[in-house]
Amino acid sequence: MNTSEVLSANGVELSYGETPAVRAAAISLCRGEIAAITGQSGSGKSSLLYCLAGVLPVARGEVRFEGRALGELDDEELSGLRRERFGFVFQYGELIPELTVEENTALPLRLAGQRKAPALAAAGEVLERLGVADLRTRRPSQVSGGQSQRIAVARALVHKPAVVFADEPTGSLDSANATAVLGEFLALARSQGTAVVLVTHDDQVAAQADSLYIMRDGMLEAQGTS
Ligand SMILES: Nc1ncnc2c1ncn2[C@@H]1O[C@H](COP(=O)(O)OP(=O)(O)OP(=O)(O)O)[C@@H](O)[C@H]1O
Ligand SMILES: [Mg+2]
Repeated sequence: MNTSEVLSANGVELSYGETPAVRAAAISLCRGEIAAITGQSGSGKSSLLYCLAGVLPVARGEVRFEGRALGELDDEELSGLRRERFGFVFQYGELIPELTVEENTALPLRLAGQRKAPALAAAGEVLERLGVADLRTRRPSQVSGGQSQRIAVARALVHKPAVVFADEPTGSLDSANATAVLGEFLALARSQGTAVVLVTHDDQVAAQADSLYIMRDGMLEAQGTS
């Protein structure tokens, strides 16, 4: 095992009832590594992310985070891991409408027990890096689609997680905006040593990753690394 490995999976299988969604998956990520997963709709990409993030328990195989098997952790340890060491970005950002932009961004720090003032200050810094600091007191309904994805990215990175799981993080944006937001997301993740598992339909986005995988009918195939 590579000593800087943060996340690995071997022989991972997952079914929904009788329907197999992930049939064989192996992946390994080092600190700060960006891995892109492409594949057709229904091929099992989101299901694999849920397994890797410990959201769904695997039927077979094993996922390890920093060398520890997720299957050996109890619910409390697993939710602590997801809250403090992982970050998540989804297709539509999914910000909380009642909270301001800066409160949304600071949420992972507040959940980890940080006091309000330092948490908001840290959120402000990440929002600044993503070019949306001027929106900090607005509500999610008062920002554009591209801005809300930047805010979702800021929230996923603010607590400097070990791994961010991103499922079509720019899928709702036009291609110019998607490329810009993605570029900023990956640069910030790399600069703070956060590994990223990035599900995308976009080949240009996938080309920015360090390693590339294709999901075919539940089977994850490693492609050449750049
Ligand atoms: N909760 C569920 N219950 C039953 N079957 C499901 C469930 N979620 C997904 N599936 C099925 O599992 C398979 C994989 O779905 P998954 O969402 O992982 O695909 P995907 O590659 O993420 O697709 P997309 O690109 O459309 O998001 C599909 O056949 C899907 O219909
Ligand atoms: Mg999906």
